[in-house]
Amino acid sequence: MAYKRNLLITGGAGFIGSHVVRLFVTKYPDYRIINLDKLTYAGNLANLSDIEQAPNYTFVRGDICDFEAVGELMQRYEIDGIIHLAAESHVDRSIRDPFTFARTNVLGTLSLLEAARRYWESRPERFEGKLFYHISTDEVYGALELSHPEGVEPPFTTTASSSEHHLAYGTEFFYETTKYNPHSPYSASKASSDHFVRAYHDTYGMPTLVTNCSNNYGPYQFPEKLIPLFINNIRHRKPLPVYGKGENVRDWLYVEDHARAIDLIFHRGKVAETYNIGGFNEWKNIDLIKVVIKTVDRLLGRTEGEDLDLITYVTDRPGHDMRYAIDSSKLQRELGWEPSLQFEEGIEKTVRWYLDNQAWMDNITSGDYEKYYDEMYRGR
Ligand code: NAD
Ligand code: DAU
Repeated sequence: MAYKRNLLITGGAGFIGSHVVRLFVTKYPDYRIINLDKLTYAGNLANLSDIEQAPNYTFVRGDICDFEAVGELMQRYEIDGIIHLAAESHVDRSIRDPFTFARTNVLGTLSLLEAARRYWESRPERFEGKLFYHISTDEVYGALELSHPEGVEPPFTTTASSSEHHLAYGTEFFYETTKYNPHSPYSASKASSDHFVRAYHDTYGMPTLVTNCSNNYGPYQFPEKLIPLFINNIRHRKPLPVYGKGENVRDWLYVEDHARAIDLIFHRGKVAETYNIGGFNEWKNIDLIKVVIKTVDRLLGRTEGEDLDLITYVTDRPGHDMRYAIDSSKLQRELGWEPSLQFEEGIEKTVRWYLDNQAWMDNITSGDYEKYYDEMYRGR
């Protein structure tokens, strides 16, 4: 069958990528979706077991840094659109191992850009109808201060969004025009990749787009990240390592809302533009952690709050950014996107999912899944 579009999604076996792949495979049966993923420790095909048999879905195990292989793949599947999510994504790992982050996030993105440019330039229609969409992060903008208007207790409600629930811990926000100021090796590598993507538009005329999103939460997130790690620890009554004083602020978005934004922007976003994506939903880590503890306790039939004593303050993350806060009003105004879930609903759904999918969690935390997939996909 001739497909209407042939899309390459990189990093589709990871957390956000798996939601994006699922959305595109199910919503667009007339698109062929190629998922290119190296299956690092963070990639897990179990995240996609419900759609792996779909006729319009193909998984290819491969490294975005392998320029020749990526070029061949684009030619073989006549790729006309790329949604690039593959990355090393965990800040703490980037502090221990910055080279891996530079390799995958910077050189990997460059390899993908150059393979796409050469393939698309070899076609008679060149860049017509093509798009390279790069998924980035709010961390490239650096860190904001905690502050509040005089006489107002934080968190305060602002009117920047149409949502009634816009909680903020400061008067400044990240806008699409905010100057890049990354602090961790992770955010420095993502900033560098964003610059390369924009340079490919400005230099070669390649149609590119960049979006910068805030912290995602939801099902299938690798349990090294705050929310799934803590849900699992609470379940097993293990200590919850809170960095520093727990006062850092993050802006949380339910992952399916991010995937919906990606769909909308891929189809209706303006080439060469940047869109910020965020939930208008700021939380101090310690307050968020207390909500997670109480929700897990309640859903496990424990007394709500009985596990609060698992909170353990530990040495802070070096260079720990104090506050992230995305202003996503451009996306709301121009493309009509809004987060669909209130945080209380999203966190309840998320905790329930991890508790109901303990086998998924156990496979990862026992380390078995890596061996299993290595054997299963050796030589593919
Ligand atoms: P993740 O770590 O869960 O998944 C990353 C995926 O990329 C994995 O499946 C991994 O196997 C794959 N991968 C890694 N190196 C690769 C390589 N060299 N070649 C091919 N595949 C490779 O990450 P995530 O949290 O889903 O983040 C996805 C993207 O979204 C990243 O680019 C990240 O920077 C960005 N982002 C994440 C968040 C968040 O809160 N998680 C927020 C904003 C932006
Ligand atoms: O803002 C978007 C970014 O969000 C993405 O680009 C990253 O890929 C993603 O990992 C996430 O980065 P953070 O560093 O904000 O997420 P993490 O879950 O690691 O930590 C969230 C907050 O919780 C942060 O302030 C650090 C703190 N923390 C984290 C862990 C893992 C703890 O206090 N204890 C912990 O054990």
